[in-house]
Amino acid sequence: MSIEKIQTASTNSIPDTPPSAEPERQYYYMEKAKQHLARMSAEAGRPLTFCVTTFGCQMNARDSEKLTGILERIGYVEEPDEEKADFVIYNTCTVRENANQRVYGRLGQLGRIKKKKPHMMIALCGCMMQEPHVVEKLKTSYRFVDLIFGTHNIYKFAELLATRMESGRMVIDIWKDTDKIVEDLPVERKYPFKSGVNIMFGCNNFCSYCIVPYVRGRERSRDPKAIIREIERLVADGVVEVMLLGQNVNSYGKTLPEPMTFAQLLEEVEKIDGLERIRFMTSHPKDLSDELIEVMRRSKKICRHLHLPVQSGSSRILQKMNRRYTKEQYLALVDKIKAAVPDISLTTDIIVGFPGETEEDFQETLDVVRKVRYDSAFTFIYSKRSGTPAAVMEDQVPEDVVKDRFNRLLAEVQKISAEVCAVHQGTVQEVLVECRNDHDEHLMTGRMSNNLLVHFPGDESLIGKLVNVRLDECRGFYYIGEIV
Ligand code: 5AD
Ligand code: SF4
Repeated sequence: MSIEKIQTASTNSIPDTPPSAEPERQYYYMEKAKQHLARMSAEAGRPLTFCVTTFGCQMNARDSEKLTGILERIGYVEEPDEEKADFVIYNTCTVRENANQRVYGRLGQLGRIKKKKPHMMIALCGCMMQEPHVVEKLKTSYRFVDLIFGTHNIYKFAELLATRMESGRMVIDIWKDTDKIVEDLPVERKYPFKSGVNIMFGCNNFCSYCIVPYVRGRERSRDPKAIIREIERLVADGVVEVMLLGQNVNSYGKTLPEPMTFAQLLEEVEKIDGLERIRFMTSHPKDLSDELIEVMRRSKKICRHLHLPVQSGSSRILQKMNRRYTKEQYLALVDKIKAAVPDISLTTDIIVGFPGETEEDFQETLDVVRKVRYDSAFTFIYSKRSGTPAAVMEDQVPEDVVKDRFNRLLAEVQKISAEVCAVHQGTVQEVLVECRNDHDEHLMTGRMSNNLLVHFPGDESLIGKLVNVRLDECRGFYYIGEIV
């Protein structure tokens, strides 16, 4: 944006009192922030830039798109290099301890950069900010941070930013919980052709190792009409694939004034003209219904991929994890899904080293991996999260034992997923073209319905299109192919 344009924007008058209703109130603050930014840009003699760095899951990635939408509306220009940006926002994750350590490490580095750039601003948000000890540490040891907010009031970003710009002081606003969902704020998508769509927020499951229910609050489902309206708008704007997002999508709709099931929501989404592909994440095995399996079986748009976290193969450990299913129930569910949707690709999350896990328990996990034959599995070393029931359980497993199990699990998972990936060799698959290949500029990269990637000769005009690709050569976890 040119300076001239920025200055014109700053001459509009804004009423003194903000509206109390949302989202109008936030649009009011976007205007206010825009005026401040215009002044700051005029002083700097150039447009000011921002960089949002996302840690963690798809939910956070979607939240970052919302932050970006607001920042662009205010007049900031995106700068992919964090070290060059005038305003850096860390959208944090706290699901495992090493996620927190990474944030502190990078923040220290950012603080050193800020010393040389006094006009620079730093904001922190996301799950880690919902932990009181984190905010205390930031207040004492990271005084250079300008703005701190949590997961429940992310919609107030414009208001908090305007307050920071006006006061020049550190602004901290963390809520314990909320039942509020604010619709219709600006969003800037990372990809023009695919988008995440939140269908619910929070989690009520309280798996004993997991901090998410404490930092993301109680389960709230979005109004199905608002979800459909958002997807229709996305489709009108060029989106062909959506990923419906929730901590536990299978319990969608239970708390709505007019309850509805996730399977029913999927059927409504399926009807949207122009939408080609539907994905969703994450499914909790305990809530995955026969109705959902039937909807998946019949659907032309729901992708042939299901992420079904097992966490452990031992019924004893699963009970201590408060997962509310046994190994046998999980395997029976997998059989039912595979029978209904034979070409389904299954992926999972597994934790090793949960308190009290014995070698026998671990063997049960390996057994599940061998029986299910996952396309891929995210494997995690158990991380103690204070405040969760598992953190105070006895028999925490020694580090060397966990590492050894982790390595054995990874080897097994990788061996099987290479075999599972290879079965598509020679077939023709419909692929959504996503980007140019990072390593070879003659190749484009596309994603199959089952979430596998294939690289094939092509050009950028194909991005966002669905094309048929023959899978010529399997290279472990991806294919090299050719458009047919
Ligand atoms: N330690 C290790 N892994 C964890 N996960 C959640 N909490 C923990 C923890 N305390 C993993 C689970 C979950 C994934 C998103 O992160 O496997 O499915
Ligand atoms: Fe955490 Fe369990 Fe909720 Fe997933 S379902 S977010 S693992 S508490």
